[in-house]
Amino acid sequence: MNLKTCLCAALGLGLAGAAAAETLPPKPARAVVCAACHGQNGVSTLPIYPNLAGQQESYIEHALHAYKNGERKNPIMAAQAAGLSDQDIKELAAWFAAQKPAVYVPDVNAPLTAQK
Ligand code: HEC
Repeated sequence: MNLKTCLCAALGLGLAGAAAAETLPPKPARAVVCAACHGQNGVSTLPIYPNLAGQQESYIEHALHAYKNGERKNPIMAAQAAGLSDQDIKELAAWFAAQKPAVYVPDVNAPLTAQK
């Protein structure tokens, strides 16, 4: 999936999901950018990008502040967090935390040393 497809899908889902659940926080416009790496709803498609869906809200908030102030070092996320206001960070954290997490099904027969 290329970036364009991904962003369009993210926008479509945002609109379709608007009526779905009144109690969920609204999707922040800034979350569209995050979708390129973290997936449309916070479940990323590549292992190098962490899933954000269902993560604790305070953890996401803390992580974004840490990237922004340089306490946590990652060039990609530093660039992403640089332009976020405290309000943006609150909205993004609330929204990603409210998304359905990826289902992880462990393979009980896999050798303990196996890595994906
Ligand atoms: C270009 C790809 C890319 C984009 C776009 C991006 N991220 Fe990330 N994000 C990453 C990578 C890579 C990491 C892992 C960095 C590390 O090891 O600390 C990460 C890590 C994170 C983490 C920490 C997750 C954890 O489990 O500790 C949060 C929170 C996060 N991103 C939020 C966001 C938000 C919110 C946006 C949109 C404003 C965003 N990211 C946009 C690539 C991206």
